[in-house]
Amino acid sequence: MDERIGVAVIGLGVIGRRMLEQAALRDDLEITGAWDIDPQARERAARDFPRARIATDALSAIADAGTRIVYVGTPPAFHREYSLLASAHGRKVFCEKPLAVDVAQGERLVREIESAGTPNAVNFVYASAPAARALAAAIADGAIGRPLLIETRLFFARWPRDWQASAQWLSYRAEGGFVREVLSHFVYLMRDLFGDCTHRASFVDYPGDGKSCERAAVAMLDCAGMPVVVTAGAGGGGPDEVVFTVRGERGALRLDNWYGLQRAEGAGWVDTPVDHRPHPDMRTAAYQAQLDALVQFGLGAPQRLPTMAMALEVQRLIERILQGD
Ligand SMILES: NC(=O)c1ccc[n+]([C@@H]2O[C@H](COP(=O)([O-])OP(=O)(O)OC[C@H]3O[C@@H](n4cnc5c(N)ncnc54)[C@H](O)[C@@H]3O)[C@@H](O)[C@H]2O)c1
Repeated sequence: MDERIGVAVIGLGVIGRRMLEQAALRDDLEITGAWDIDPQARERAARDFPRARIATDALSAIADAGTRIVYVGTPPAFHREYSLLASAHGRKVFCEKPLAVDVAQGERLVREIESAGTPNAVNFVYASAPAARALAAAIADGAIGRPLLIETRLFFARWPRDWQASAQWLSYRAEGGFVREVLSHFVYLMRDLFGDCTHRASFVDYPGDGKSCERAAVAMLDCAGMPVVVTAGAGGGGPDEVVFTVRGERGALRLDNWYGLQRAEGAGWVDTPVDHRPHPDMRTAAYQAQLDALVQFGLGAPQRLPTMAMALEVQRLIERILQGD
């Protein structure tokens, strides 16, 4: 491809570094500037990603003449600030989820971005992940008959997970917690697969200190008329579990550990291979498929990345679950 899409990356923690790592595998994306408020994060990125230009400040990364898209990979409290800065400089915005720290801030951001006419998208990776697309295709092909019930089960032995140890904001109720961080992906996926989801009931267990995030949550939702059962918890023995199951009249399919597609057979589950070539694994294939869509977004071509307005609908439901009954 002749044209490389210039991306400025703001926030160089877990997910910002993943963007640098995955963008480095392609020749149609160019990191025109990368910046983090923490000098150590900038130093680490400069050392580990020599192709990415580390900017002197956020504005110079965003305003760089080659920047077409600004990727906002900071914690949620700063998504609005950088999205608006990008919009003010005529850049497209690719923002991380959750959209904002609360519904009011999310609504404001969507209003501001839409009234500026800024093209916008949010990084829910199930928009592109081959396993999720294969699940959607199998359901549409009638592999399980009419879908009847959705279940989402999350368990984390430690929260935040070990690889997120530096992201301490994830431990706190204000911005973090696994309901926002992980369940939001599955709320997005349900909406993408079936349509509108609403809250029916929820109960959330918080530690008594008033500031730490949830320890456990149960919720009953409705998705396009189907019951959705959610159970989520953290802390304790055993392996982590991230499982999304759709049960139908004639069978069941599930995503196991994010990107493993399985179908019910007899009394158990069997793997359903999903083609991840030319990438080495499903995780890379998912991220690369999302970057394929990001390139199309940069070019102004059709693609299926969710908009901020869609991310706001996800956020409304997530915050409603967290409110409890
Ligand atoms: N889409 C996904 O699959 C996925 C996965 C993980 C995280 N996320 C989202 O990505 C965002 C970041 O998460 P993370 O795990 O990378 O967190 P993190 O804490 O590892 O990284 C955030 C980085 O942002 C920097 N930062 C904080 N305030 C800043 C500011 N005002 N200006 C510039 N930089 C600032 C921090 O120094 C840190 O390096 C969150 O919204 C999170 O929910 C999305």
